[in-house]
Amino acid sequence: MIPKSFIQDLLNRLDIVDVIERYVPLKKAGANYVACCPFHNEKSPSFTVSQSKQFYHCFGCGAHGTAIGFVMEHGGLGFVDAVEELARGIGVTVPRETPAPGQAQHKVAPDLYEVMQTATRYYHDQLKQSPRAIEYLKRRGLSGEIAARFGIGYAPEGWQNLETVFPNYQDAALLETGLVIENDEGKRYDRFRDRIMFPIVNVRGQVIGFGGRVLDKGEPKYLNSPETPLFEKGRELYGLYQAQKAIRAEKMALVVEGYMDVVALAQLGVEYAVATLGTATTPYHVQKLLRLTDKVVFCFDGDAAGQRAAWRALENALPHLQDGKQLRFLFLPTEHDPDSYIREHGKEAFEYLLGGEALPLSGYLLRELSAQVDLRTQEGRSALLERAKPLLTAISAPSTALLLRKEVAALAGITQAELEGLYAIKPVGAPAHRVPQKSPRRGFPGLRALLRCLLARPELARELPVEVGEEGSDATTVAALAEYLREQNFAASTAAIIQQFQGTPHEAALASAEADIMQWGADFDVVAEFHGILAKLREEQRKQQLQDLHIKAGGSVQGLNEQERERYRQLQQRS
Ligand code: GTP
Ligand code: MN
Repeated sequence: MIPKSFIQDLLNRLDIVDVIERYVPLKKAGANYVACCPFHNEKSPSFTVSQSKQFYHCFGCGAHGTAIGFVMEHGGLGFVDAVEELARGIGVTVPRETPAPGQAQHKVAPDLYEVMQTATRYYHDQLKQSPRAIEYLKRRGLSGEIAARFGIGYAPEGWQNLETVFPNYQDAALLETGLVIENDEGKRYDRFRDRIMFPIVNVRGQVIGFGGRVLDKGEPKYLNSPETPLFEKGRELYGLYQAQKAIRAEKMALVVEGYMDVVALAQLGVEYAVATLGTATTPYHVQKLLRLTDKVVFCFDGDAAGQRAAWRALENALPHLQDGKQLRFLFLPTEHDPDSYIREHGKEAFEYLLGGEALPLSGYLLRELSAQVDLRTQEGRSALLERAKPLLTAISAPSTALLLRKEVAALAGITQAELEGLYAIKPVGAPAHRVPQKSPRRGFPGLRALLRCLLARPELARELPVEVGEEGSDATTVAALAEYLREQNFAASTAAIIQQFQGTPHEAALASAEADIMQWGADFDVVAEFHGILAKLREEQRKQQLQDLHIKAGGSVQGLNEQERERYRQLQQRS
């Protein structure tokens, strides 16, 4: 295990501009450096590097991170490899912490990633020892090479097998990672038993969850890790780590439903496939893929469930469509899934379908909409307009939306202007209609600004009141950040914070703060901004407390006790 303090030192000693320059030529632009983004195709530079804060952020595709994150994403490396490469570059050796036996439970923060890594290794070793599991994989046509590439393993029968690699079976980390289950009596047992294990790996190459398949018949067919601090189903795609390079090279990503589909496709040479994890395709999935490539094809099973999954994918993709990006849908013959199709017909036949049969999103949308109604009748045409409305108004990409409106209007036999009037859409020429990106946030609106200040000048956290005391995701991120900074004695750098929260639920809020910081002018006064927000925050809390007392009093101070009356007076005086 690499000590956290070493990561901080490394980030302090590196210059992200030097690191990135080795791969991408940077140009100075104001306070920052810019380039065309190496992670998506673009003609004008939106990839921005902050030398003073030591992080990068792409305004086009959202890629972001520290020097370590850059080397991982650009080189497709795991965390440890990236750290080693960077350390080598400046001539330092990476120290390792080897916890003495029996000392493991005294670690301050158990490294959940490490726990997952140990389990992965164990399942992998167990596969070699189970002729039955090997036989099953052979029967499914998997080569040893592909099984190794995806780290496939086997969880043997039995209730506490993991005890062999985790001598402290009571370690909280085992519960936290979902590897063991605790029953009402507090007795623990392995979650995965007698299953083929598919490690779910994040883009940094770290195992964050597992999918486990039964070997024969049994329920459930697939058992997945629960949501854990490491693993959020709606955000991860199975196989993305392995597919990243091919997605960039082939300039397309293929989304399928199953683990087995991804593995079979990769084995037969279609290496750009990823799978959702037994959930619908989420807007986040679409966004993530569109960052890597301009073309995403969904290929779901030919059955009714596959059709439903495709439609859900379409609905969730609409808000993230961008002009110039393509989304397509391929429907296989009913009896097939991608695994069975490519094994029966081969790579060429599959890619032939992909090239020729995949419907563009607009074609699929119009086909489905018109199939649901009878366009020969007025009622049918009216129903079409009704059904198309939520879909068309969800699209923010201007030309895509415009073209679809034209087509739907034509199908319904009305003019585009009439349709826009009906949907209360501003006609073209006016600023494009936009769906709000986020639902309105509860809590103090200054929290996002507070987060920016803390990220830019971590030492300001010293002045933060202990309780920020609001609900909402920004508040939890501010709280988590404040806690981390307190632990670090307020001495962590911006880059260290970014690195620390990579892959956690706070990553998104921090990424958006990074983007804002990048846009600050050179003379932006962080300290003044911070103090302004704190003042507003205090005022907000004062009003809230006053209001609470107001409600409690029911209109008359008589409804309050002595103490509350005093408090009420104090709060009022401060206004
Ligand atoms: P094989 O039957 O092994 O070929 O797998 P498949 O991927 O073709 O299975 P299927 O099409 O039935 O399921 C597609 C995906 O849905 C799987 O890869 C899982 O992610 C998920 N899934 C399927 N069955 C279950 C289940 O019983 N429970 C859960 N949680 N997920 C499932
Ligand atoms: Mn299958």
